[in-house]
Amino acid sequence: MGQLQDTVQALLAENKGLLAADESSKSAQKRFDALGIPCTDETRRQYRQMLMTAPGIEEYLSGVIFYDETIRQATDDGTPFPQYLQSKGIVPGIKVDKGLVDLDNFTGETITEGLDGLAERLREYYELGARFAKWRAAFSISDATPTQGSMHANLHTMARYATLCQSAGIVPIVEPEVLYDGPQDLSKAHEATESILKLLVQMLKAYRVDLSGCIVKTSMVLAGKQSGATSSPDEVAEHTLVVLNEAIPATMGGVVFLSGGQTPEQARDNLQAIGSRGKQPWPITFSFSRAVQDPAMKAWAGKSENVANAQKIYFELTKACAEARQGKFKANESGSTDNFVSASQDS
Ligand code: G3H
Repeated sequence: MGQLQDTVQALLAENKGLLAADESSKSAQKRFDALGIPCTDETRRQYRQMLMTAPGIEEYLSGVIFYDETIRQATDDGTPFPQYLQSKGIVPGIKVDKGLVDLDNFTGETITEGLDGLAERLREYYELGARFAKWRAAFSISDATPTQGSMHANLHTMARYATLCQSAGIVPIVEPEVLYDGPQDLSKAHEATESILKLLVQMLKAYRVDLSGCIVKTSMVLAGKQSGATSSPDEVAEHTLVVLNEAIPATMGGVVFLSGGQTPEQARDNLQAIGSRGKQPWPITFSFSRAVQDPAMKAWAGKSENVANAQKIYFELTKACAEARQGKFKANESGSTDNFVSASQDS
């Protein structure tokens, strides 16, 4: 096995998952503002430190995706975050796209920027300790979208990013997110996710990406929030696994899920339904941001006296997802997250 495959194997380790802690400073600002937490580089550092240093988290955490600011930050004792993670056997990663801008001529659709100078940035990130990267494109679903134009523009770009990562010894996570916050019903979500993933794989092959050293990060397939419908965990598992088996070759290194604005319980229960369906051609795990962070951020509230409680909440949410990916999560056992989640939402 080569270096890329070793990294893939570490990230997809059986009882673990990834933390997406790669919110841009602008996104972090929105989330902190909503809770009345001052947002500075120092409070963002303290917050990410709180998550990464949660006692025992290495048992369930395989990798952390950083933002450019965060990969350069350090713990209170001066240990750079990437080195801190490595000392715990957790793989540091980096979001390298530069975000979304409107796609000209395609009303309501976006293109992800960030290819210019990427080879050089990847070399620096490798030096800083990153061994995997993430690039996200976003697709909103409506009667008129996603268009072939936005799919081609975004997925060509994503495949080119993947080649640059692999040349730098970095595993690319390719993330074509189907936005959950839309009017699509379950069958439209199924159809759109399948078309996007199939075209993504076609582009990755066209650009000669080594699929075994690559990870797909995808939305689960479920009806959009504005549709008014709720997809049950069984429906989500059924549609998600049909789509993945149709679109993703068995040679792909792995598949990870984003949570996309689902509640922590919803994301966990859907993951549990997927995990319960047994072995798939590729290892599957989670790479959540909001579904493992929101209750912990609320409990932390920017105060050092809340760190231990917030860490406990984050630990339990991550542990539950690590169990769910194997279909082994059991609600209402001691250690169930639901008490933590509702306690923190009430606070
Ligand atoms: O790009 C999206 C993040 O990596 C995952 O965030 O779990 O809140 O959707 P999310």
